[in-house]
Amino acid sequence: MQHDFFQSVVDDFAEVDELIRESLSSRIPLVEKIAGYLIEAGGKRLRPLLVLLCARACGYEGRDHIKLAVVIEFLHTAMLLHDDVVDASDLRRGRKTVNAAWGNPASVLVGDFLHSRAFEMMVEIGNLRVMEILSHATNTIAEGEVQQLANVRNPDLTEQSYLQVISRKTAMLFQAASHSGAVLAGADKATESALKDFGLHLGLAFQLIDDLLDYEGNAMDLGKNVGDDLAEGKVTLPLIIAMRNGNKDQAGFIRQAIMAGGVENLSSVINTVKDTGGLAYTETCATKEKDEALGCIDGVASSIYRNSMEDLVEFVVDRSN
Ligand code: IPE
Ligand code: IPE
Ligand code: MG
Ligand code: MG
Ligand code: MG
Repeated sequence: MQHDFFQSVVDDFAEVDELIRESLSSRIPLVEKIAGYLIEAGGKRLRPLLVLLCARACGYEGRDHIKLAVVIEFLHTAMLLHDDVVDASDLRRGRKTVNAAWGNPASVLVGDFLHSRAFEMMVEIGNLRVMEILSHATNTIAEGEVQQLANVRNPDLTEQSYLQVISRKTAMLFQAASHSGAVLAGADKATESALKDFGLHLGLAFQLIDDLLDYEGNAMDLGKNVGDDLAEGKVTLPLIIAMRNGNKDQAGFIRQAIMAGGVENLSSVINTVKDTGGLAYTETCATKEKDEALGCIDGVASSIYRNSMEDLVEFVVDRSN
């Protein structure tokens, strides 16, 4: 457990890890092998952490938060298996992606296995409101991914539409994690709504930084390659701002790079998004979301769990991985 903000739920997390291992069992050895390959590579485990912190911050004393945390991590991992196919990525969590090692069909199908295992476990929890939140979230995430696909190589994507895409494809799962944790714990309406909104703003900050790191980060720290967004012609905030703020040549260059896709011009694109303030603007937006998130939990009863949530948001905007 690398970060201090895991400390308040360190015992819960040991149980989460154990349940993850148990729940990967399958009659088909290849399923276990591939799912285990990605899950054992680690990952930051931020979403299951959020479930545990929110449930505990609301005074939860049952056992189902462990299972709920695993459900959320499985949904996330299933999405990564699909995402790396869609984005043609070949590095994830410091390892070859499943699609690079076994091919696209294996990645899609094992993604389906993890997704459906998550739903089996969710039904075992047996809380109808939790099911409602999670099924709605997964549906919205799929819409966000398709909305993004529909805008590939579209240099006219607006900042507003970009924000809508990231709130659907990424922030929705953070929101579902915090919201379902609160609902499981039987939180009062005000706390439930505060934690739900906290997850949303945390998730927005998270994806803004992810999109920044795709230009500014390095593969060693990230465990995934930089430049994957441009390679697929994916329009993210740094590019939108570079076109808005840049002079005619800079804006035209970015437009062309988006329409062409590919990473031939990556280093010039990186210089342009830096020079035009595209990266700085993206970082400022992430900081605003961080402040919104912190504001949401101001009124939540103070506890070690709330402190960890505050540290988690700080990490999300300061991270390099
Ligand atoms: C990656 O999420 C997918 C995005 C929404 C950007 P994480 O960066 O949390 O992935 P892991 O689980 O730590 O590998
Ligand atoms: C991921 O967005 C969102 C998902 C729904 C998985 P990205 O495509 O930017 O995530 P990474 O950078 O590959 O992790
Ligand atoms: Mg991707
Ligand atoms: Mg993607
Ligand atoms: Mg990314």
